[in-house]
Amino acid sequence: MDALIQIFLDSAIFVLPLWFGNASPTILGGGAPIDGGRYWRDGKRILGDGKTIRGFWMGVLSGGVIGALIAFIGYNILPITLLPAETPIIMRLEYLEYLNSGIIPKLLSQFNLATTLDNLTLLGFFVGSLMAFGGLIGDIIGSFIKRRSGIERGHTFIFLDQLGFLVVGMIFVFPLIPWPIQWFLIQVPFTFILHILANLIGYFTGIQDVPL
Ligand code: CTP
Ligand code: MG
Repeated sequence: MDALIQIFLDSAIFVLPLWFGNASPTILGGGAPIDGGRYWRDGKRILGDGKTIRGFWMGVLSGGVIGALIAFIGYNILPITLLPAETPIIMRLEYLEYLNSGIIPKLLSQFNLATTLDNLTLLGFFVGSLMAFGGLIGDIIGSFIKRRSGIERGHTFIFLDQLGFLVVGMIFVFPLIPWPIQWFLIQVPFTFILHILANLIGYFTGIQDVPL
């Protein structure tokens, strides 16, 4: 049971930039649509007015900020504060060393990014924005599929709306953070439910016009 809670918490922290990246355009988006108002050959909009340029980049930025916060708190504050007060300073430093020797810095060094991204907060920003970027690409693909299926902007396509951004976002960062499959299996039902709850809250608080 403890292991399950651990997997849940790890995966939830991991996808936090995706949740924020997907939700923030509702508040921060608007303006010119990505498809420039153009139509597909079926006579319907390519993507529709619900996918805006500002919303896209604000989502990427939000994901980056959350990623940076996770890295900053996770690497700089938690390792120090979570260790018992009597832990010798040398052990604390070793623990930080252990965290820094993780898979991400190693992989980044292969991409020659290590010199620019040796700062872990910056690294978190990079991974968080990349994840949100992938998620928003998934969101755009979703709208394209919805328009081709004749579903109007803002109307629901169950599963696609709730999970498209999760699947594509997680795939985007897989080369940097090869997440365990359990994270995905637990986040599919959890993000699905969370997405529906968040939309219902948005509806009842007046942030959005449709309940789902
Ligand atoms: N949004 C945005 N830019 C994006 C994504 C979202 O500005 N790239 C904003 C839009 O105001 C959008 C709202 O966030 O209406 C909610 O996003 P979403 O539910 O993904 O869009 P829908 O309006 O439902 O459009 P679609 O049917 O195409 O998904
Ligand atoms: Mg919608």
